[in-house]
Amino acid sequence: MKFSYVNPTQIQFGQGQIASLGALIPKAQKVLVVYGGGSIKTNGVYDQVVAALGDHDWLEFSGVGANPTIEVLDKAVAIAKEQKVDFVLGVGGGSVIDGVKYIAAAAIYDGEGWDILQGKHKVTAALPLGAVLTLPATGSESNSGSVVSKAATQEKLAFMAPAVQPKFAVMDPDVMKTLPQRQLVNGLVDAWVHTCEQYLTFNAGALVQDGYAEALLKALKTLGDNFDKQDDAWRANLMWSANQALNGLIGSGVAQDWATHMIGHELTALYGVDHARSLAIVQPSLLRNQLGAKKAKLEQMGRNVFGLSESDDLAERTISAIEAFYHSLKVATQLTEHNGDKAQAVDAVVSQLEAHGMKALGENQAITLTESRAILEQAV
Ligand code: NZQ
Ligand code: ZN
Repeated sequence: MKFSYVNPTQIQFGQGQIASLGALIPKAQKVLVVYGGGSIKTNGVYDQVVAALGDHDWLEFSGVGANPTIEVLDKAVAIAKEQKVDFVLGVGGGSVIDGVKYIAAAAIYDGEGWDILQGKHKVTAALPLGAVLTLPATGSESNSGSVVSKAATQEKLAFMAPAVQPKFAVMDPDVMKTLPQRQLVNGLVDAWVHTCEQYLTFNAGALVQDGYAEALLKALKTLGDNFDKQDDAWRANLMWSANQALNGLIGSGVAQDWATHMIGHELTALYGVDHARSLAIVQPSLLRNQLGAKKAKLEQMGRNVFGLSESDDLAERTISAIEAFYHSLKVATQLTEHNGDKAQAVDAVVSQLEAHGMKALGENQAITLTESRAILEQAV
């Protein structure tokens, strides 16, 4: 096992923590506050942010939608450049926080912003940024990843850079009270799949990473099973689980998969399927396709997370248990249950994967375009 691990994001967790914002951003810094379609205006989060920034010079940019597009984000980049902004604050879910990471990087880059997503420009510096999380799901509030779409070409690509790791993440579970049930389910499923992507690979004997991943999966399963019993503890547990699922810790020193995400991103870009729901479509089929390589960890998950008894088909039963968990949350595991164009979906996704160089996905680089096609044929 060999790894380098640091997570420098300061976490301000708990009720009332938005008030701590003022002390987290140096007073001399001019702040660009970025948010989405307006949920923060109706649930009191905006007012709390305004109160906390009372001593700061700040301006705002709104309208960053789900699966943020470069077309919208570039308008904020122009403002950040013109107004000589020093700090970018995202107030929202993964889309707003990912958007803020792009804005912070593009604000000090003079070339085409899409270069950042295509890897033509390697981000080594960015404006400092922070996050007020309103939707626990992605872990974006304390990681260095960002996913941005281009509406014009229906593409959705990611970049990672330590320079865009948030300086702080304010996580007040009370903000979740206004989340639609659909978004809460999305958050739970996304965090679940993030954990799986770093756990369901091959057995490396990493007792700490495996044990922590199993603790997160068991927590998420319990939260899912008690979805209709939401209280302060339920919300706090979901917010913390989703954060810990993708803050770099459980993936340190172990193999990582991420093929479900790469294929899922294409489904979102082409058919507008919610991010988490794209994962639930792809993952069961992908696990069945990769059963041979993932057998030992699937069996371990069956025993330790679902409490399944030993049998020769334990790995298959674990996949069925994952699928049943999604169905219990009323999450579809077939594209046909959404509005996707079934006839063309397989060809369209495979050709986008090819265009984006996604020809050897997974922990063993074993998911070629042929395997992706086979996975999709079972999943649509
Ligand atoms: O725009 P507003 O009005 O705020 O509404 C949002 C949005 O419509 C709403 N919402 C958020 N907080 C709310 C609320 N509504 C009521 N009350 C609140 N407290 O929820 C809707 C969805 O928000 P969004 O930010 O899109 O959801 P999520 O957090 O699931 O983020 C998804 C994006 O993150 C990317 C995904 O690909 C997708 O683009 N990901 C980012 C990752 C990362 N940076 O590490 C990893 C993930 O795997 C993922 O790919
Ligand atoms: Zn995800």
